[in-house]
Amino acid sequence: MSAVTASAPGKIILFGEHAVVYGEPALAVPVFKVQATATVHKGMPGEGLIIDAVDLNLRLSLAQAATEALVLTARLVLDHLGVPEPDAHMTVRSTIPMASGLGSGAAISAALGRALASYLGHPLEPAELSSLVYEVEKLHHGTPSGIDNTVVCYGQPVYFTRGNAPQTFQVSAPLHLLIADTGIASPTRASVNAVREAWEQDRQTYAAIFRQIGEITRQARSAIESGHLAELGPLMTRNQHYLAQLDVSSPELDALIRAAILAGAEGAKLSGGGRGGNMIAMVVPDRVGQVESALRQAGAVRTIYTVVS
Ligand code: PMV
Repeated sequence: MSAVTASAPGKIILFGEHAVVYGEPALAVPVFKVQATATVHKGMPGEGLIIDAVDLNLRLSLAQAATEALVLTARLVLDHLGVPEPDAHMTVRSTIPMASGLGSGAAISAALGRALASYLGHPLEPAELSSLVYEVEKLHHGTPSGIDNTVVCYGQPVYFTRGNAPQTFQVSAPLHLLIADTGIASPTRASVNAVREAWEQDRQTYAAIFRQIGEITRQARSAIESGHLAELGPLMTRNQHYLAQLDVSSPELDALIRAAILAGAEGAKLSGGGRGGNMIAMVVPDRVGQVESALRQAGAVRTIYTVVS
């Protein structure tokens, strides 16, 4: 069998995080500037499957515990295809920053699963791959909504509602986005649990916030589909207002959001679990430079400029 390489992009949530866990829609898009890539080639007879996670300086074999995400991914793929463990070497690399809301865990699993299945002669459909990666996501997040695996496996903008087939949608005019990282690692599981505890204390207030976020997300989808981009920035900033009410923003995120708006962004919000990680800003193309430098000055450790079209 000849060597096979497959990849999966990063992702960013544009609207609807947290509320999506409670049944409201969310919008997310792939970020192709950062990618996870996996290559498989033939190994020595009797060696089994070896996985080299280059960035983590880690070598894994299938005999290792399935709490290791890459081992679990490979086992799920083999079980799903009903094939025995091959003698093969896999190399997995990623340029997606980890633990910052860019879907790195899901993308690495997706690239590995896609490459392994293709190598074995059974390429996976995005929906099949996505449901396998969802099982792996549970290791990281506990109760993931499923948005990360969906976006990275389909590699398309996704309008996602928990429990329903993902819908892709038309992006009528290019969206220019700046993503900026606070540099603060913030596990999604912790912020999702904090919101759950708060919701359990006061369901009425929290349900009302989730509904508002859901409404903003629906409006954002129509604005993107109809090309009315002027509406999007203000919708982002309104979404951020409700995320702050859920107590998932942070002083560092607030500082970046403020800096982006003052430097001329159309709107800005945190993205993902919050309390650290990344924020995003909608920017018209000729202001990208000034907003990017304002974000750096306000403490961003990394910025990514991406165009969704
Ligand atoms: O931190 P991320 O990018 O994995 O996004 C988490 C999004 C949440 O809505 C907070 C949780 C989820 O599972 O959808």
